[in-house]
Parts: sequence; structure tokens; C-alpha cells
Amino acid sequence: MNSDVKDQKLAGQGALRMEWAGRSMQVLDMIRQRFEKEKPLKGVRIGACLHVTTETGVLMKTLVAGGAKVALCASNPLSTQDDLAAALVVNEKMPVFAIKGENRDTYYKHMRAVLDTKPHITMDDGADLVTQVLTKRTDLIPGIIGSTEETTTGVIRLRAMAEEGMLRFPVVAVNDANTKHFFDNRYGTGQSTIDGIIRATNRLLAGSVFVVSGYGWCGKGLSSRARGMGANVVVTEVDPLRGLEALMDGYRVMPMAEAAKIGDFFCTVTGDTGVVRLEHIAKMKDGAIISNSGHFDVEVDVAGIEKAAKAKREIRSLVDEYTMADGRRIVVIGGGRLVNLATAEGHPSSVMDMSFANQALAAEYLVKNGKNLEPKVYSVPPETDGEIARLKLKSMGVKIDSLTADQKRYLKSWQHGT
Ligand code: ADE
Repeated sequence: MNSDVKDQKLAGQGALRMEWAGRSMQVLDMIRQRFEKEKPLKGVRIGACLHVTTETGVLMKTLVAGGAKVALCASNPLSTQDDLAAALVVNEKMPVFAIKGENRDTYYKHMRAVLDTKPHITMDDGADLVTQVLTKRTDLIPGIIGSTEETTTGVIRLRAMAEEGMLRFPVVAVNDANTKHFFDNRYGTGQSTIDGIIRATNRLLAGSVFVVSGYGWCGKGLSSRARGMGANVVVTEVDPLRGLEALMDGYRVMPMAEAAKIGDFFCTVTGDTGVVRLEHIAKMKDGAIISNSGHFDVEVDVAGIEKAAKAKREIRSLVDEYTMADGRRIVVIGGGRLVNLATAEGHPSSVMDMSFANQALAAEYLVKNGKNLEPKVYSVPPETDGEIARLKLKSMGVKIDSLTADQKRYLKSWQHGT
């Protein structure tokens, strides 16, 4: 098997959409132009397990421009854009293994196909590929220079592996770069989650009560965008600092047990398990709409709802309506999988530009330095992070001030007081 996609006839549409995405990814384009000349990834095999979207397509082409050989599978069974997957296979001759809606067995079969290409670098969004290598394909470890990780959940898992002494090669935590999480997690998740909920339901947010669980970067972005649409936002948190921050940002803060009674929309972005449980579902209003935008489908107890419900029907595409024993209807979008990719197209290209610029430069960094790094989780070098911000501003035609000599001196001095 050197590719497995839904329908190669979709390639034309996928190529057009990838071209459109690429127009908002100027930083990655500048990197591509340099890669084309310098070939820093020459002969390097990269195995990527990412959301198979148009933006990921642009990243894959950038890595190939740098001389890499890439193989790609999906990092979530519901996030693949089938037309884009077809375009990569047909037009770019890339081994892609991803089909939207694939079951668990196929998901892992596709991951195995990528690992069979014996990658020198793995690129993860959620740490599934690294987990496979460390538990099932240890034969590959000697050939691996290192890995990169895209998302908060993946970084948490990798840090846990490092702590337990499980990690066998260095990993660059792309998520932790400022040019990643400040923008992708906040503005990307903010916009694409609202987009997913609206595309799935076509409901009005204005005047509704919108409950956001988790006030990390994703929760902050989502709350602000929901408020921007006229929703009355309620935040649930477990961390007192974040709860306080949400309160002072102007949201109502309360436990889920209270929020459950008043919410019209619920969306989880905590990265943790069991956030919306049956005890909460029992208190929800008829017609409450639940979704998740965290990496894994563990935040909402969908299995519990399935069991407790007396009937289920797919009332709109990827929208399940459950009728509970007391007659209330509870609506779940995308089976509790990440709604921004399941029912929309993920983060807009302009923010993925910075996230994937970090990925491309992290791969280059691993090729240059990986052999000297320990099996730990590393940050993207701050100079790289700063350079990506500089290039992004430049690409947007925005200039900023620079420090005068006097200001530089002042910042280095301690003599000036009151
Ligand atoms: N994660 C969130 N949005 C994404 C996108 N558009 N492409 C790839 N990964 C993503």
C-alpha cells in the first residue's frame, strides 16, 4: 500500500483549495524558497501524523522542497479533507494514508504504513506516532533523529514519557513556541470552533448562553469569539488563577453542575477527560448542543450518553440528537471529536502559517542538532520564534518601532531610580 485515500478523482478540487490556503501562508512560502536553494532536509525521511488539511498539504510541499521524503497519515479519524489527500497523492506523488471517517483499525493501519517508510523524523499532532514507535516499533528507534509535536495534549503526553524515562529521542515542542500557541491556540481555535458549531447546526449564537470548559489559550480564544457573536459566555475551570482571569475578562464563572442548567451550547477545550459527564447531562435543557474542541474525544462522555439515551438519530450531517429517558433531546456534534476539524476546516491558513513555519524550522533544527540532543522535550529556539513573528508582520505589511540607543542603554542599566 503506497497510499490510501477516499477518491483520487477529488484531486483537482483539493489542489485548488491548497493553492488558496498557500496564499495566506507567506512565512512558510519564504521558508520554502530558502529550502529549495539550500536543501537542508536532503535525504531525510519524515513521517507525519497531522490533520490532513490544505495547510498541512502546504507544509508537506515545503518539506519536500527542502529535500525530504514525506509520508503522511491523519492525527484524527474525522479531520481529513479527502480532496486534499487525493491532491497530494495524484499531483505530488506523496504517500498519504487518510480517509475522513476511518475507523480505529484503519487509523492505526495508516499509522503503521507511515512507520513502514522508516522515518528519520516523526511529526506528530497528539503524540500517537511517537507512542507507536516507543511501544510497537522499537526497531525504528536507532534510525530516528527526533520528533516534533504540534499540540498541547501531545506535549503533555511527551513530557510524561520523558518523566518516566520512556522517551528515546529528542522532541521539539512546536506548541510551546509563542508564535504557535498565542495565535493558533487562541485565534485559530477561537474562530474555527465557532465555525464548526455554526456549519454543523446553523444556529444563532447571539443571545444564547455559551459554556466554555477550560480557560487555557484555546478557551480564551473561544470565549472571546463566542462573546463577539453576541453569546452570553460562561466559563468553567478547575484552576483558580484561570478562573479568576476568566472572571476579570468579564465572563461568568461557575462549576459545570451549575452551568449545565443554563447552557444552550457547551464546548470543552480542557485537554482532560470526563469534563461533561452524565450527572451534567441530566441537568441540561432540552435541545442543549454539546461539542468538544480539545485534541481527544474524551472530554464529553459520549459513550455514557449513548447508553443512557433511549433513541438516537443523525439529525444533520455529523450532528447526533439523543432522546433521553425523560424525553429531553441532547445534541452532540461530531461524536465529541474536535469540532473545528470535524465540521469545519480547522484553523485558517494565516495562523497555520506560523505553526507550520515552526514545524519546518524544527525539522531543520533536528537535522542539524538532533544527534547532540538528549531524549528530552525541547523548546523551539527563541531566535526562531522571534524570526517567525518578524516575518509574519513583514508579510502582513506591518512595521513596528525599534529601540533607540538610549532606550537600549536604559533597559540594561540599574542606576536610574525615582
Ligand atoms: N489543527 C487545527 N487546524 C488545523 C489545520 N487547518 N491544519 C492542520 N492542523 C490543524
